[in-house]
Formats: sequence, structure tokens, C-alpha cells
Amino acid sequence: MSEQTLSNLSREERRFEPPADLAADANVKAEAYARAEEDREAFWAAAAERLDWGQKWDQVLDWSDPPFAKWFVGGTINAAVNCVDRHVDAGRGDKVALHWVGEPEDDTRDITYAELKDLVSKAANALTDLGVKKGDRVAIYMPMIPEVVVAMLACARLGAPHTVVFGGFSADALASRLEDCEAHVVITSDGGYRRGAASALKPAVDEAVEKTGDLVRNVLVVRRTGQDVDWHEGRDVWWHDAVDSASAEHEAELHDSEHPLYVMYTSGTTGKPKGILHTTGGYLTGTSFTHWEVFDLKPDTDVYWCTADVGWVTGHSYMVYGPLANGATQVMYEGTPEKGRWWQIVQDYKVTIFYTAPTAIRTFMKQGREIPDGYDMSSLRLLGSVGEPINPEAYVWYREVIGGDRCPVVDTWWQTETGQIMISPLPGVTAGKPGSAMKALPGVGADVVDDEGNSVPDGSGGYLVLTKPWPAMLRTLWGDDQRFKDTYWSRYPKQGFYFAGDGAKKDEDGDLWMLGRVDDVMNVSGHRLSTTEIESALVSHPKVAEAAVVGAADETTGQAVCAFVILRESAGDGGPDIVEELRKHVQKEIGAIAKPRQIMVVPELPKTRSGKIMRRLLKDVAEHREVGDVTTLADSTVMDLIKDKEGSAASSEE
Ligand code: PRX
Repeated sequence: MSEQTLSNLSREERRFEPPADLAADANVKAEAYARAEEDREAFWAAAAERLDWGQKWDQVLDWSDPPFAKWFVGGTINAAVNCVDRHVDAGRGDKVALHWVGEPEDDTRDITYAELKDLVSKAANALTDLGVKKGDRVAIYMPMIPEVVVAMLACARLGAPHTVVFGGFSADALASRLEDCEAHVVITSDGGYRRGAASALKPAVDEAVEKTGDLVRNVLVVRRTGQDVDWHEGRDVWWHDAVDSASAEHEAELHDSEHPLYVMYTSGTTGKPKGILHTTGGYLTGTSFTHWEVFDLKPDTDVYWCTADVGWVTGHSYMVYGPLANGATQVMYEGTPEKGRWWQIVQDYKVTIFYTAPTAIRTFMKQGREIPDGYDMSSLRLLGSVGEPINPEAYVWYREVIGGDRCPVVDTWWQTETGQIMISPLPGVTAGKPGSAMKALPGVGADVVDDEGNSVPDGSGGYLVLTKPWPAMLRTLWGDDQRFKDTYWSRYPKQGFYFAGDGAKKDEDGDLWMLGRVDDVMNVSGHRLSTTEIESALVSHPKVAEAAVVGAADETTGQAVCAFVILRESAGDGGPDIVEELRKHVQKEIGAIAKPRQIMVVPELPKTRSGKIMRRLLKDVAEHREVGDVTTLADSTVMDLIKDKEGSAASSEE
């Protein structure tokens, strides 16, 4: 975002006060800020009390060995019991946990908490029969079907950390994750439905398993589409054979509060994804409390819907663990946001709370308001946004067109690493400003600082840091404590701040405006991608000598992947289909989400004298801007060569 847009943003004068009835009855009121400030640990202890514990903790927070935090030390807890059994035990077994909507018309399933308990218990027994023990890692590669929730909770019940890999990732990406966390069991399905057709998943698992030698012992397969699958006798097991016949009785063990719950891989600034480790007690406290707080959840009357895929952290924290721990009734949808389908679902299920990403909102804006206007969405009372900065236009459109001008919009800032929402308005307290995530939630410490770690004054920008440990914080990177320290904690060692990697600005009132990443990480449609990872994928192609990738502004997806490549001499001009060939190669290496929007074959890349690629200049080209200062380049004529190429590429497109 440019400085100009920035100053426009902070001059934003519109304010949206909370609706009076919501404010009067809000789960969390203004007093919470002062209460948390006075005694942060007591505040989070009260949030933890909302859960069912076996042994209660002796100590709320152990921060004696930073940056390695321990929360609710000595406590024992089972996440699956908190998400499922305790609601049944409290007499709410008949309450619907999931209104599942398949992509094909009329393919729906309602699952009550009592049914979910049986399913999770059966799956836990089936996994035990497959030799899964506490501490073992289980990989999950599935579409948005109820079994993915069951699989995650069954793992949690056993204390076997799951690693869910987004179904859009390639076999190679899956294989590297299997290897990194040494998973011996994979849960998948034959396929899922996307855009009206069955789309296969099992072949990617077969390929990934093949690549990892004898690492994977069993593949548990849900039959979803009925499409043909290759079957590996002795290794592959049908879910309907193993789970359906298992006993619905399963005694859940209580796990230590710090027992690993899951590993979620996310892109960092190097080619190797980072395995973010979340543990049990603190994570469940942070997610369930903030879900109740930020969405003002009233479990008896609300119907909640988070559109995120379970393959991302939002699906973990705000579709599985947070809402289920709170006993919510929610919608889960298998498909993609086809025109009108989402609003049909809102109408059919009388959804009251809706949580989605700015990319989706901008896509709907482009399609026009006639589509949502054709549905009755008067049930909605609160809207949420996550994953990337929401521009004021999209915020106001969301509020007016989807929210009928009566629903507050909560713009929630957080990360895979934070596990829980950190910065957000409180819907019953905050007068929202379109485009601002406002301020840190009660109990959360956030600030914007300069290079030295000094808090910047109101009206200025800098780096976003988190100043205090919080319950759902990542505990480390799987198998790599050093990278954990280096990545997040080495920037401000004196102050002990967590470095988020985001730029932010405080406006004149001290409210926060998020400005996107300050490192080599892109945010495409709310999904995090690393420039280095895509560069490595490009360079692994035999025709490519060098590659540089930048995230360029894109009207719909926020950012788009733009690549600049130098071909090997032996490849000549690469042939007429070189661009398509390279795009497909990236898709194969990483997945469709990483496929570059644009690839330019160039004779040289702009480098400093020390050989560092100056992506800033490439970004100028990709965003069709005047190229900035080139004086630090080793060879300042390089940019002319690239711009010449760009000019000819543009004219050949016309
Ligand atoms: O740059 C910020 C952006 O998404 C990054 C985190 O990405 P990920 O770990 O994939 O998690 C996405 C879902 C929580 C952040 O570093 N981001 C997330 N939410 C917002 C945001 N940027 C601006 N406003 C937000 N509300």
C-alpha cells in the first residue's frame, strides 16, 4: 500500500457504532480491557475456566525460558472431550454441531453433538487399531467433508498431533510435510467436489507416499466421490470398513496442557515451510475464548459459518476448535463460492454470524449486488473478515450489501503462529472504522515500533510486534527451535518482542491499520506464499537458470504471483509455450494457488553489488509503476532491459 493510500486511510471519517441491542447483551464489554491490563494472567485463567480440565493447572504461565512459553502448567485436558463430549454430557447431544452442505445440490448432512461424539470415538478406535499412539503424527489431506473434522478430533482425542495439508497442495508439497513431521499414517479421500465435478485427491497421496519410501504405513481413505482409486493392499484401508465397524465407546485420556495438538505448515522466507506447533490447553483457551468474544457467540441461538478451508489455520481455530469448544451450531460447505450459492446457504440455514476473507468479498463486489440482493439474509447479525487487509470500499460493501447495514464488521488480524485472533474490534464495544483492525484484544499486547523497537507515536507507521505472551501462541517450529528463535524473536532481543513480519500504522487515535508483509512473503487470496519457495520451484525446472518472484497488487486476490526468469543458455528462447510450461511446473511442485499470474522471461535480474536481488524494482515493473531508485544496482542498465521486455510482452498481449 502506498503512503498516499495510507494517509487517505487514516483520514477515513466513517464510524460504525455497535448496534444498541448487541452492545447491551455483548459477551465481552469495555471493562475487559482494564481488567486484563490489571492482571493479564488472571484474565486468561478466567478464560481457561470456561473449559473442562482434569487436573487443574498450578501455574497460569511459565515464561522463565523465553521464547518457550508454557501455559496452564500442570493442567490436564482433552481437546476432543471439550469440543464434543462435554456438550453431550451437559444434555445438548441433540443440538446440531454441523450443518454440512456438499457441493452437489441437495447433498447435505446434519450432525448433532451426540452423533459427532460417536463418530470421533469410532475414528479414535480405528486409528488405535492402525497402531496410532499418543505422540504419533497423523497427516490429513481431505476435502471439506465432515470426516475431516472427525479425523482431526480423533487425533486430538488420542493425543496424536495432526498435520492437515490443504487439498490444493501438490504431491511434492505433501511429501515434504510428511517427511518433516514423520507421519506414518495419512487420512484422505478418493476425492471431493469442486466446481461441479469430482476432483481426485488419492493419486497425490499415492505419489507422495511413494516419494517418502517406507515412511507411511497406512492410508485411511474416505469414499466421497466414488471415483476409481488405485488400491495398495495392506497399506490402504477404507474409512467405512475401519471406522464404521469400530466401537462408539472410547475412553479419552487427559493430556498435559502442553501436549502437542497439531503442526500446521506455513510459508516462511526460505524455501522450506515452517511447521508451526500448537499445544493443547493454551490453544483451546485462546481460540474458544476469542471465538466467543469477537463473534459474540450465543450458542443457543446463533448459526455460525466460517468459510475457510480446514487446510488453513482459520479452519482449525475458527471452524473446528474454537466453535466446537463453545458448543456452536455451524455450517460447513464443501465447495467454492459459486455465484449465489453462499447466500442461498445463509438464507436456508438462517446463518447469524459469517466469517470470510476480503478476496471473496471483492469477488462478490465485482459480480454485482444483484446476486446477494436476491436472497433473504436478514438472519445475519455479525460479519467477520480475516487473512489480509480489507480495503474500506470492500468493508463498506460487505457491511451494506451482505450485512444490510445493521451488522458490525469485525476485521480480525492474526496468523498461523498466533493461533488466535489478536487484533480486532469488539462488536459490542468498538465504533468500527472501515479498513482498520482497531486494537489489540483484552489480554493481548501489540504495538507498532521502529527499527530500534521504540513505540512509534500516533500517526506513524512501523513494524507490528506482540509484546506479551498469549495462550494460543506457537510453542516452536517442529524440530527447529533455532529457526523459531531466529524468525520471530531475534529482531528485538532487548525488548523480547514477537516480530510478526507485518507493517502497520497507528492513526491519530492510536487505532491500527495493517499494511501487509514486510518480508519475502506474499498474501494471495489470504493465503501465505513464500517468494523463495516459488523461486526454488521455478529453478528446479531444467530450462531455468535463475528466478525472482514478487507479489504484485491485484484487485481481487490482494496480491498475485509475478515471476521473472532467466533461461539457461541450452534452453534457447524456451520455445513458444515456455510461460505455460513454467506455470504448470509451479503448480506441480507446490499447488495451483502458487501458479504465477504472470511470468516474464528476462535477460538479467536487478542485483545489488553483493548479489541480492532487488525485488522492490521488479515489483515496480509488475505493478506498472515508474521504476524506483536504481543507484544501488551493480549494473543500472538491467532495468532498461527488463522494461523493454515488459513493453514488448504487453504489446504482444493486446
Ligand atoms: O499479513 C498478515 C495477514 O496474513 C498473515 C498471516 O497469514 P496466515 O498465517 O496464513 O493466517 C491467515 C489467517 C489468520 C498476517 O501476517 N493478515 C491476516 N489477517 C489480516 C491480515 N492482514 C491484515 N488484516 C487482517 N485482518
